[in-house]
Amino acid sequence: MKTEEIKSEIFQEKLLEWYDKNKKPLPWRQTTNPYQIWISEIMAQQTQVETVIPYYERFMKKFTTIESLANADDAELLKMWEGLGYYSRARNLKIAANQMMTDFAGKFPSDLSQILSLKGIGPYTAAAIGSISFGLQEPAIDGNLMRVGSRLFKLETDISKSNARKDFDSVLRPLVSADRPGDFNQALMDIGSTICTPKMAYCQQCPLHSFCLSSQDESWLNYPVKTKKIKQKELYFAAFAMQNTLGEWYLEKRPATGLLANMWLFPMSELTKSEFENAASNGLSKRPKIPETISKINFVSNYRHLFSHQKWNIALFTCQTVDTFEISEPSPDENKQWLKDFTTHPLAGPQVKMFEILEK
Ligand code: ADE
Repeated sequence: MKTEEIKSEIFQEKLLEWYDKNKKPLPWRQTTNPYQIWISEIMAQQTQVETVIPYYERFMKKFTTIESLANADDAELLKMWEGLGYYSRARNLKIAANQMMTDFAGKFPSDLSQILSLKGIGPYTAAAIGSISFGLQEPAIDGNLMRVGSRLFKLETDISKSNARKDFDSVLRPLVSADRPGDFNQALMDIGSTICTPKMAYCQQCPLHSFCLSSQDESWLNYPVKTKKIKQKELYFAAFAMQNTLGEWYLEKRPATGLLANMWLFPMSELTKSEFENAASNGLSKRPKIPETISKINFVSNYRHLFSHQKWNIALFTCQTVDTFEISEPSPDENKQWLKDFTTHPLAGPQVKMFEILEK
């Protein structure tokens, strides 16, 4: 037996022993069903697993099979995703479910290249599903594994570079357990989220401590190396909360493509930075495009909503209606509606937050 093999065996033993004692009790860890694993992995992208749990449980009750997801009503599907963000994930799920209906007889494929052919599934997700559900000996390399891997090996690869993955693959692949590849990956994910976190490394608690080069000289804070920063665009808006005497809110549907596609939101006008900064003390300099029957525009508060590439600064206003009867009539434009019951109308993340602010 080669020394690297001995080392990887001890590495796996320590890691899996730790996992068996300390793993997070996540609902999708009670199954290897690929449909369920797939949904959990898509939900957990860019989202902490603790946040995912109630979404996952609701989703599994509503869409029990690939077929039911393939036939899902779009609004209902987005509704299930409301608050999770990155809504293209939900849209891609339905597309991929339809791919499975047509290309794979309604079954989740077990071959890595077939898994990769599904909409919304990249190398990380394919490896996660492949290892957990089908026992494929693949490292599931996401941000967490890159952080842990870079610290273990003091790997100088810049993770913002598009070809970084192959460097991580070459150091992690030889370590992946043949018997329990899914647990191997999930153990590293748990270490990444609890022990070896972006700002802190609790090396004394880490089962991989004795293998870790950056722990030995306490240089872990230098890893991973990352140069490129995503530039987030600052945008400024006024948002108008209008409620009629029937208790209905006036909402508009966003266009079918782009950020928050097809989701519902108060009417908003884009402002310049200085208009936004003046809004709290002086109100708005020009009347926004809202129905004529709306008057008395009052400032409520400013808040910020962060997306991956945009920062929205929203000045929230409430507006009083003058002629409540007229504006409670169903609107002729189906993309602009007075609503009280939102069950069939997926709300955009900033909208959920604005309702919370108004409730206070
Ligand atoms: N993050 C993404 N997928 C995960 C999983 N299966 N376990 C823990 N964290 C995760």
